[in-house]
Amino acid sequence: TTVEWEAESYDMGGHDTYMHKEIHEQADAVDRALRGRIDDRFSTVHLGGLNLDARDARAVRRVKILGCGTSYHAGQIGAQMIEELARIPADAEPASEFRYRNPVVDPDTLYIAVSQSGETYDVLAAVQELKRKGARVLGLVNVVGSAIARETDGGIYVHAGPEVCVVSTKCFTNMVVSFGLLALHLGRTRDLSVADGKRIIEGLRKLPGQIEEILGNEAEIEKLAAEYADAKSMMFIGRVRGYPVAREASLKLKEVSYIHAEAYPASELKHGPLALIEPAMPTVAIVPDDELLEKNRAALEEIKARSGRILAVAHQEQEKADHTIVVPKNEDELDPILMGIPLQLFAYYTAKAMGRDIDKPRNLAKSVTVE
Ligand code: AGP
Repeated sequence: TTVEWEAESYDMGGHDTYMHKEIHEQADAVDRALRGRIDDRFSTVHLGGLNLDARDARAVRRVKILGCGTSYHAGQIGAQMIEELARIPADAEPASEFRYRNPVVDPDTLYIAVSQSGETYDVLAAVQELKRKGARVLGLVNVVGSAIARETDGGIYVHAGPEVCVVSTKCFTNMVVSFGLLALHLGRTRDLSVADGKRIIEGLRKLPGQIEEILGNEAEIEKLAAEYADAKSMMFIGRVRGYPVAREASLKLKEVSYIHAEAYPASELKHGPLALIEPAMPTVAIVPDDELLEKNRAALEEIKARSGRILAVAHQEQEKADHTIVVPKNEDELDPILMGIPLQLFAYYTAKAMGRDIDKPRNLAKSVTVE
């Protein structure tokens, strides 16, 4: 199935910016990404354009995901999902770095190019280089019929619909959901059990309702943004599943508000960045209720002990945090899909309070088609 759209006929529908509109379209967008793909009988998903049969899928020894910016962050979450659900070693790398380091191209590696526009030059050049070297490359792309969609051997359309704001929100979410589908598909052709397949499918089905729940909290997030908008600099931390969420949230804040933001694995704080912590440098912490909860709480304590202000995004109130945005719990593997969503609103309201040009941040273009 493909989704056609006309960018010209795309209006703002009562929202003040495309960013706000697109954040609010996420429940429908995720629903569209799931539609027609779930197979309850075999607890798996069907991805029509993948061009990867069960034998090919079982032959994959490694997955390498390439993208830029937000799409690279989606790829980092995707790599974790593939490792967790399919037990295939996977990692993500900025396409712009990959293509300049004369990479070793391995026939047993499945390469995946991730791109909203499907036109980003660095990603396209990486795909072309891989194809020249005989690799199998899939695309995880939003724009149907775009250059990357055409040059890849197959792939998944993420079906986010048109994204006009330079800053990506709903497309990121749909990319991560699409990686969830791919990870489930690869998992079920390998060792992922029927029970786990069912569990993930149930989790995926809950996402649109849970997204609505998060967006229902908008007034609270607007107030929090006003409290932190005086910061000159912010730290974003997370661990394993939460780390790419922290990186993406920090990029969102930088892009729209121009507030300097750093993202670190919570485990790396003590190796340097802890020196930055003081009341003027607030920390946003991603604290999922998973096997790392206690470790994350310990990081909050370390920050509190240095008088750092903390805003946590968590599944339950965090005692050490000054504020907690509570998000609904899903399956551990799918939690990263939801945890960044309140921070999209946080970036939006911070930028709005500062009077920024939200849909067209300075110095940025929606798609970077040059080197
Ligand atoms: C997202 O908010 C960015 N403006 C940017 O990082 C973007 O994700 C990147 O340029 C990649 O674009 P693409 O997904 O169209 O390839």
